[in-house]
Amino acid sequence: MRKFLNRALKKIGKLDIDQIRSLIMDVVQENELLEMVLYSMTDGVVVLDENHSVILLNKAAERLFPFKSGEVVERPLWDALADSGLSEFFHEALVEQENIEDKEISLQSGGSTRVLSCTMMPLVREGRIQGGLLHIEDITEKKAKEARLRRAENLAALTTLTAGVAHEIKNPLGSISIHIQLIQKALGNGAGKNTETIQNYLDIVNEEVERLNGIIVDFLFAVRPMDVNLVSQNLNELVHELFEFIHYELEEQKIRLDLNLDAQMPELQLDLKYMKQALLNIVKNAISAMPEGGCLRVETVARDDHVELSISDTGVGIPEENMTKIFEPYFTTKDFGSGLGLTLVYKIIKEHQGEINLESREGEGTSFTITLPVPQKEQRLLGWQSNEV
Ligand SMILES: Nc1ncnc2c1ncn2[C@@H]1O[C@H](COP(=O)(O)OP(=O)(O)O)[C@@H](O)[C@H]1O
Ligand SMILES: [Mg+2]
Repeated sequence: MRKFLNRALKKIGKLDIDQIRSLIMDVVQENELLEMVLYSMTDGVVVLDENHSVILLNKAAERLFPFKSGEVVERPLWDALADSGLSEFFHEALVEQENIEDKEISLQSGGSTRVLSCTMMPLVREGRIQGGLLHIEDITEKKAKEARLRRAENLAALTTLTAGVAHEIKNPLGSISIHIQLIQKALGNGAGKNTETIQNYLDIVNEEVERLNGIIVDFLFAVRPMDVNLVSQNLNELVHELFEFIHYELEEQKIRLDLNLDAQMPELQLDLKYMKQALLNIVKNAISAMPEGGCLRVETVARDDHVELSISDTGVGIPEENMTKIFEPYFTTKDFGSGLGLTLVYKIIKEHQGEINLESREGEGTSFTITLPVPQKEQRLLGWQSNEV
């Protein structure tokens, strides 16, 4: 454009008025385009002359930097800035001709702190430095994102580390448990008061080892990423399998089981191991809530696009102030509770894209309701079946 303009200017005497008008229009258009580019940029740009006076600045620069009100053009940059710290910094750096490269500057604006990155580049014209170009980038979000990422990485590293330690503790615990049993067996042949006392002590040690083991198993479950393996499965079958396993314990605790399973149950996508673990945790809590016995009611209901499973007990109930805390890791009201049972339940239900809700009344009982989605294909199948009937 410049070359074309130079050529045109040499011949300006020979141009008629329309040609001159068209030439000016071209120059104006070109100027507007450059201005548009400069003003549309989200990064700030400030152009300085050889004496560090402001020649040009874009909208983003005005927004990012605290410029004094009024005309700032033709004033030295430090004189145009309203912030004394910033002004001092540029004065010193520009006069001393220091390098300004990715210089991070924190500025308070409207109650929040913004982090800006500034770089000064030489403004070269016809092979000569004729000033400077200040580039200002707002890196607040970038920095916050980096910090978040670092935190997540630290947490992940910590989780791996603790999971590793927990795993290491589990092995000797297993060995201790086996050796206690061996000692008990060896003692079993002898008789006498001493042997009995030692047997009792060993029983206690054994219980403690089991408790520790339980804590570690729960902890590992809670911190390890879950590798859910979803397969098509009937929820009722899973419930039956679970209670086959646990009905002796219920009988022992004088708890009546009341199963109400919807016969029209669509297949769901379930991880059998984890889902059984989740239901077991809820049932175990229900059992501890009914030390005098009671009734455990388990119900499944198939709705259009989801299935509801509720497990209700007639136990002690949960005080209002604990209702929001029970899913938190390590929240327990039991002397020997891990407080990880329901944390794990929550995690498992979330892995199944489900929801879990509860209702509870102190002295009356507690009811947990799990909602699980029915896969799309199953929904269509159900619709088709109901048309047939
Ligand atoms: N069915 C229930 N009835 C009464 N309280 C319950 C029930 N289920 C859970 N809770 C309360 O929630 C707490 C946390 O449960 P959980 O995460 O399984 O940990 P833990 O069983 O080790 O205490 C329990 O200590 C208990 O106070
Ligand atoms: Mg529990």
